[in-house]
Amino acid sequence: MSGFSLPEVDALLSDKISETDATFFREHGVLLMKNVISPEELAVLKEESMALVEKSKDPELKDPDFKYATHPSTDARVPFRIDYLTHKMLSARVLLAHPFILNSVEMLCGRNFIPTWESKVFKLAGTGAAVNWHRDAGPALPDEAPVFFADFYLDDADETTALRAIPGSQKLSRADAMDRINALNEAEQFEGDDIVILPMKAGDVLFHNVHTLHGSPAASSALRRVVYFAFRSIEVEKITSPNMPAFIPAKQRVLAACMQARANAPYTQGETPFVYAPDSEWAPPADETDFSDLNYRIPHLEL
Ligand SMILES: [Fe+2]
Repeated sequence: MSGFSLPEVDALLSDKISETDATFFREHGVLLMKNVISPEELAVLKEESMALVEKSKDPELKDPDFKYATHPSTDARVPFRIDYLTHKMLSARVLLAHPFILNSVEMLCGRNFIPTWESKVFKLAGTGAAVNWHRDAGPALPDEAPVFFADFYLDDADETTALRAIPGSQKLSRADAMDRINALNEAEQFEGDDIVILPMKAGDVLFHNVHTLHGSPAASSALRRVVYFAFRSIEVEKITSPNMPAFIPAKQRVLAACMQARANAPYTQGETPFVYAPDSEWAPPADETDFSDLNYRIPHLEL
């Protein structure tokens, strides 16, 4: 893509994104941050996630949190997504409380925010089908209150297989977005004037607005795993899911438990933890330390 450059954001140099970065994200709907996950943390995440990938290959597995697609050329049943990660991986709980990410989320959402969706998407070695252009499901909201995912890369994604996105497309009307998506998918087009290619190194994180158009071409490359955590402000949650007031404190409790898990993890010692400080109206119970009864699997539409 010509005439467009992403800001250089290096998590080793600061404890959060800058105001300039935040403005860039509101404007363009994508932001790439380098060196977010330390090598020690990455090693634990890779090991725990590999156990889940192996489990997903079991043809007898009947778990609704494990999602499958049909490979276009072989008709094979290919696992590609696992939902409710904090329910399944201690290292995912630790990751959700990453201070650089939460400090940055607070900048974008305000201090009254909650984590919402969580999943891991992966392309098995040699079976990476194309991901057609799409918008993620999510409410249409003003730029100042973005609903977005943090995409944590556990493996490298090089130029040939990397995510493609159209900066600024989160602002398109639904009709214009659908026209563009249909045209791109019909042409199987993954390069073009307004398309940015987003190669990532393991340990990098991408923020993407749920309405930014994105997709990726087919890959026959090595295994690629990406952990997705979504965030939104409580005010937005109240507007978009008014019938689920119990979801907000439930997810705040998940966040508190994840922060405790991060504080206790052997590979995070020495870092400055994120401090969650919502308005008093939304303040979670003070000094809660026992999360042993917590069920991390909290469906958004059923609570
Ligand atoms: Fe997506």
